[in-house]
Amino acid sequence: MHKRLFIPGPTEVRKEVLDAQAQWMIGHRGSEFSDLYKGILKKLEDVLQTEKHLMVFTSSGTGLMEAAIRNGVEKKVLCCVNGAFSDRWAQIAEACGKNTDRLEVEWGRAIKADMLKEKIEEKDYEAVTIVQNETSTGVRAKLGELYRAVKESEALLLVDTVSSLGGDKIDIDMWGIDMCLTSSQKCFAAPPGLAICAISDEMLDRSKKAKDKGHYFDLALMAKYAEERGQTPSTPAISLMWALDKELDFMLDEGIENRYRRHELMAGRVRGWAAKNFSLFAEPGYESVTVTCVNNSRGINVGELIKKLDEKGIAISNGYGKLKEKTFRIAHMGDLTLDDVSEVTGEIDGILGL
Ligand SMILES: Cc1ncc(COP(=O)(O)O)c(C=O)c1O
Repeated sequence: MHKRLFIPGPTEVRKEVLDAQAQWMIGHRGSEFSDLYKGILKKLEDVLQTEKHLMVFTSSGTGLMEAAIRNGVEKKVLCCVNGAFSDRWAQIAEACGKNTDRLEVEWGRAIKADMLKEKIEEKDYEAVTIVQNETSTGVRAKLGELYRAVKESEALLLVDTVSSLGGDKIDIDMWGIDMCLTSSQKCFAAPPGLAICAISDEMLDRSKKAKDKGHYFDLALMAKYAEERGQTPSTPAISLMWALDKELDFMLDEGIENRYRRHELMAGRVRGWAAKNFSLFAEPGYESVTVTCVNNSRGINVGELIKKLDEKGIAISNGYGKLKEKTFRIAHMGDLTLDDVSEVTGEIDGILGL
């Protein structure tokens, strides 16, 4: 049975995109692959409206969180933490042996520009990490305000847009993002296994000079292969590249502004329903456009609700980590429609007798 995914990744993948993977294999050093990869990079440039260096890794997004640290930071990094994934980034920085400071607020709250400005002034950080869309809490950072605080300093701006890029408008170039990273299985509505990033010239220079960056996630090497040969340094997941390429065609056909608008409409619908029947976990004004974290203010049995929805072929998520029974999450990302999300809230109404 096809269970439809309203979990915050992996999200629904179109049949055409799934089918695109089932082709006879090609070599990754031939012109056919170079044409595919160069085509993907060009489409990404159009979809993301950026002139930065683009690359696609065979990895999940976490790999690029680590790459950001290993290529962009020699010693000192500031990590903005307000949920599970931003905390993971700080843990990665620590695991990479970096001197890691945290600017931390409670889960569900957002970090504000004045807090960040004040913290950045304390030390000469080489980079600041921000998770633009905290999937664990449904909190969306106001990057359009935060970026200024980082750009007034010497620090690089490293941004995780794993659960938002391609669904929520991120102005990579205007906000001077030095590394904007994402995964294939969220708003790009492709299968998991690829990670995409856009990096600035400054990040590229930093990578060229970085001492302990390792090999697999060497951004400068990746950029060199992409830009000079239309290849990747090691064997990529070619089948996934076909899927991504196909989905990018759908994204371009829809038009990126239409895609953002659709996400806003879906978010508005789910948020309205959640506010009426429960309450929202995210601080007002900072609600995610791609995933709604619903506060279990009625004290329902979340596990039971998920089970009943599953019987109807619908998957939603419980709360993340410590929020397991306190919240549940409905994703509205990728290629889902307003009708799809209305169907989910309608089914929940039926199950709970709302
Ligand atoms: C905000 C955020 N960052 C990072 C990750 C990790 O990405 P991946 O699972 O692709 O490694 C996730 C996964 O859900 C996420 O939501």
